[in-house]
Amino acid sequence: MNWRRLLRVSNRSFLAFIFFFSMSTTCLYFIYVAPGIANTYFFMVQAQGIILRDNVRTFGQMIRLYTNKNSTLNGTDYPDGSNSSEYLLQPTTYLPENLSGALTFYEGSNGGHWKPQDCKPRWKVAILIPFRNRHEHLPILFQHLIPMLQRQRLQFGFYVIEQSGSQPFNRAMLFNVGFLEAMKDQDWDCLIFHDVDHIPENDRNYYGCGHMPRHFAAKLDKYMYILPYHEFFGGVSGLTVDQFRKINGFPNAFWGWGGEDDDLWNRVRFADLNVTRPEGEIGRYKSIPHHHRGEVQFLGRYKLLRYSRERQQLDGLNNLRYTPRTSISTLYKNISVDLHPELAPIQDY
Ligand SMILES: *[C@@H]1O[C@H](CO)[C@@H](O)[C@H](O)[C@H]1NC(C)=O
Ligand SMILES: *[C@@H]1O[C@H](CO)[C@@H](O)[C@H](O)[C@H]1NC(C)=O
Ligand SMILES: *[C@@H]1O[C@H](CO)[C@@H](O)[C@H](O)[C@H]1NC(C)=O
Ligand SMILES: *[C@@H]1O[C@H](CO)[C@@H](O)[C@H](O)[C@H]1NC(C)=O
Ligand SMILES: *[C@@H]1O[C@H](CO)[C@@H](O)[C@H](O)[C@H]1NC(C)=O
Ligand SMILES: *[C@@H]1O[C@H](CO)[C@@H](O)[C@H](O)[C@H]1NC(C)=O
Repeated sequence: MNWRRLLRVSNRSFLAFIFFFSMSTTCLYFIYVAPGIANTYFFMVQAQGIILRDNVRTFGQMIRLYTNKNSTLNGTDYPDGSNSSEYLLQPTTYLPENLSGALTFYEGSNGGHWKPQDCKPRWKVAILIPFRNRHEHLPILFQHLIPMLQRQRLQFGFYVIEQSGSQPFNRAMLFNVGFLEAMKDQDWDCLIFHDVDHIPENDRNYYGCGHMPRHFAAKLDKYMYILPYHEFFGGVSGLTVDQFRKINGFPNAFWGWGGEDDDLWNRVRFADLNVTRPEGEIGRYKSIPHHHRGEVQFLGRYKLLRYSRERQQLDGLNNLRYTPRTSISTLYKNISVDLHPELAPIQDY
């Protein structure tokens, strides 16, 4: 009698054990192995709702556009001081249809430096591209960016900052290295932080800087051309040299992908700066499809992001040491650097 009851209880607890075990392994799976899948799924569900609302809003905007041609632009947006009605009504989209096309070289290239001969360029732009193991993406990016920047009459140069060694990819630290190296070359006044797999679709996405930091990649095809969240600052962003120095650059402590762009957003906000974005369809980007290629996700990012403010003056441009190997090729300057956490020591905070 007694032993049967005992057995039933243990049967039940065995089942409970199995249940909780499978629950926790499923949770672990989603946390560590496939966080992207769940996120993407929830994002898509959310996106459907936003698209519906957006369509309604776009319709309203079109009506406003035809009744009052300059209602949607204000003076702080691009292009500064230009004819805004012209700008709104005749957009020339530059859709990269042929992503496998060959690279067109341009004359007088030297590490990718170019400047217009027929005018004084408004901005001297250093384009920083963090890089590892994506050789086939580089020519595609250059093929699209170079003609666009030439049409925009900017002076520019490209810096590809390649991480060697076996540490997780540190996009943010590569940007800091790229900035310090680029400033040795020339007195750039505007910095563009550009992912190698983001291709602008519209050549009116002006790659100059402004009195506020700018987020260029507002609408990515992989996010169904919707800003994923208001604080999103990834993909392609731009700051003046003064702004970048003021916020102490990027954080160095983000090893693996994810989080460093959110920290940059926090830094910008703590420095009392606002972020501007291109209007309407201008901020559209196509992303070259790829997987994170064995690059690990940075799981410690949420903890670090809670202390953005405390870390801002301790971690960034001011605590960074590195030894680069640089070489100049036709279209860019190659800055190869081996990164380790010891190169950016942080005091306690
Ligand atoms: C467009 O803006 C200019 C100045 O910003 C203003 O003078 C003009 O009245 C506006 N046009 C319309 C149709 O509202
Ligand atoms: C531009 O104007 C809109 C309202 O017309 C406003 O919501 C937005 O904040 C303004 N942008 C800037 C950068 O001032
Ligand atoms: C703006 O462009 C429109 C149409 O292209 C033109 O009629 C108008 O004169 C322009 N205004 C200015 C101030 O250039
Ligand atoms: C894409 O570019 C390649 C190389 O320039 C060319 O051979 C091919 O025909 C192009 N494809 C299309 C669809 O234009
Ligand atoms: C940033 O934007 C907020 C509200 O959008 C505004 O109150 C603040 O003055 C802006 N800061 C600057 C420096 O323009
Ligand atoms: C950059 O230079 C290193 C050698 O210093 C080389 O191994 C690497 O392939 C180069 N990267 C690119 C993108 O040119």
